[in-house]
Amino acid sequence: MDLGLFGKRALVLGASRGLGAAIVHALAEEGVTVFAAARSIDVMQATDAIKPIQVDLADTGSVTALIATVQAAGGVDILVNNGGGPAAGPANGQDASAWANAFDVMALPLFAITDALIGRMITQKWGRIITVGSSGILQPIANLGLSNGIRGAIAGWSKTLAAEVAAQGVTVNMIIPGRIDTDRVRELDAGRAKRTGASVADVQSSSRAEIPAGRYGRPEEFGAVAAFLASTQASYVTGSMVRVDGGLIKSL
Ligand SMILES: NC(=O)c1ccc[n+]([C@@H]2O[C@H](COP(=O)([O-])OP(=O)(O)OC[C@H]3O[C@@H](n4cnc5c(N)ncnc54)[C@H](OP(=O)(O)O)[C@@H]3O)[C@@H](O)[C@H]2O)c1
Repeated sequence: MDLGLFGKRALVLGASRGLGAAIVHALAEEGVTVFAAARSIDVMQATDAIKPIQVDLADTGSVTALIATVQAAGGVDILVNNGGGPAAGPANGQDASAWANAFDVMALPLFAITDALIGRMITQKWGRIITVGSSGILQPIANLGLSNGIRGAIAGWSKTLAAEVAAQGVTVNMIIPGRIDTDRVRELDAGRAKRTGASVADVQSSSRAEIPAGRYGRPEEFGAVAAFLASTQASYVTGSMVRVDGGLIKSL
């Protein structure tokens, strides 16, 4: 299926590996020119379609510079909000600075970058804002207190924004990963193994047993859903959270 994306431009955050990198490649395959942003640009291969840009989402100056670079290039039609996850730990006992630091890195830069780039989409009456969330928004994950809490706030922001710009042809959606096989999930599995004294293989096996599909997802399965949400065909999908979780989330 031709997704109608040839010649469009995208900015993908958290693009150097994992879910972000898979989205970069899925969009590039559809003929999109992709600005791929992360801290480590040396691991990204620049091509005609993929333009690595260095950004540290924890540094407001770096975020401002990224916005300026993308605007100077004419802005984008598609924005993929993504980035790293916070440290594991309970909701109970996190001090104010832990919450503030996580919010500063996970939420505020996404809000600022979206605000700066959405104007062009509204003017041209076509745009796509796609934000990577977590299954923890719909079914909080034990020992990921910061992630569950802050991603809930991001979900509220995304849904509110969707209604504000729907009439201007801009869709705003979230994609909800369950357990997709990336560095982040491997790190969390290793952390759980250390905490519980189980082997990593046992942690992975009990994790797979919770997933009706019986396996972790592949990053390219996630990237394909992002490309569809960016497509012209997805023009009437907005304010949605699309699960890519092999059935992990138990609620309707
Ligand atoms: N994989 C899953 O199944 C799953 C499930 C639930 C939620 N999630 C969430 O979805 C997001 C992406 O997941 P993932 O598995 O792809 O994670 P990942 O493997 O840890 O990749 C995170 C990406 O974000 C970038 N990043 C991290 N900190 C950054 C910073 N300060 N500034 C700029 N870029 C930064 C990293 O690049 P650099 O290090 O080069 O900057 C990398 O490209 C994460 O927030 C994760 O917690 C993932």
